[in-house]
Amino acid sequence: MNWYLAAGILLLAAVTVVWMLHRENRRFKVTEYTIETGKITKNITVAVLADLHNYKYGTDNEELMREIRKMRPDVVISAGDMIEGAENAKGTGETLRFLSRLSKEFPFYYGMGNHERKFVQEPDKYQKVREEFFNALEETGLSMMDNETCEIPDANIKITGLNLEKKYFRKVKLYPASAAHIDRLVGKSDRDRFHILIAHNPDQMEAYAGWGADLVLSGHVHGGMIVIPGIGGLISPQLTLFPKYDGGEYRMGNTTMILSRGIGNHTVHVRIFNRAELLCIHLKKI
Ligand SMILES: [Fe+2]
Repeated sequence: MNWYLAAGILLLAAVTVVWMLHRENRRFKVTEYTIETGKITKNITVAVLADLHNYKYGTDNEELMREIRKMRPDVVISAGDMIEGAENAKGTGETLRFLSRLSKEFPFYYGMGNHERKFVQEPDKYQKVREEFFNALEETGLSMMDNETCEIPDANIKITGLNLEKKYFRKVKLYPASAAHIDRLVGKSDRDRFHILIAHNPDQMEAYAGWGADLVLSGHVHGGMIVIPGIGGLISPQLTLFPKYDGGEYRMGNTTMILSRGIGNHTVHVRIFNRAELLCIHLKKI
């Protein structure tokens, strides 16, 4: 092979990687799921945002807003990490104002991730950005589901926002949660309703299924950042290589989990074969 050809191939590969990084970081897709259940009394469309991390698609997140409006959702759910829990984080107030606009158009359920958890459970560690966060929450009237449950009575649906403690997000080696611990935090699941559990960390799936969730909505893993075709996501925020749960639909017993690949990025802004996504879940009555 001559040197010109080798240099040309290398240049082409570099341009392709840069183009992919740019594309995967600036665009998102809408991924649709359908779940059929005899527990609900009417069809419901749920838009799910996970791991926005203060990311913006257009001025005031208008691109994201446009796609959500197109779905005509009955409810919009955050599966956590809408903001970035770091002292130098930028755009926290803007993110909450975007969520507030969403909540004025649609019933909005703000499930928490580990980044929101930090502000609630580690108040001494963060000063400025935590203050900005709580000021914006107050100004916008938004409230997070901190181990709280809401109902959509006309659809026979309950939605519980789980906020697990820090140790359940431990890196490298999972500290497993138990169904009994979830009981203590949020009470028992309601077997007569279609019970949605917003639970940011998918690695605790066994506990969620044991608790009795019909549908778990998770995020956190960002699709494993780089997807190796035919294998899956490369690395999770827990620093697990080839995480078992990287994105998509999973079943355990009577529980279905839908795991978002995330709509934003955090710390390392790299996505390869792993487009950011907004979820559109159709709950169909059978
Ligand atoms: Fe997270």
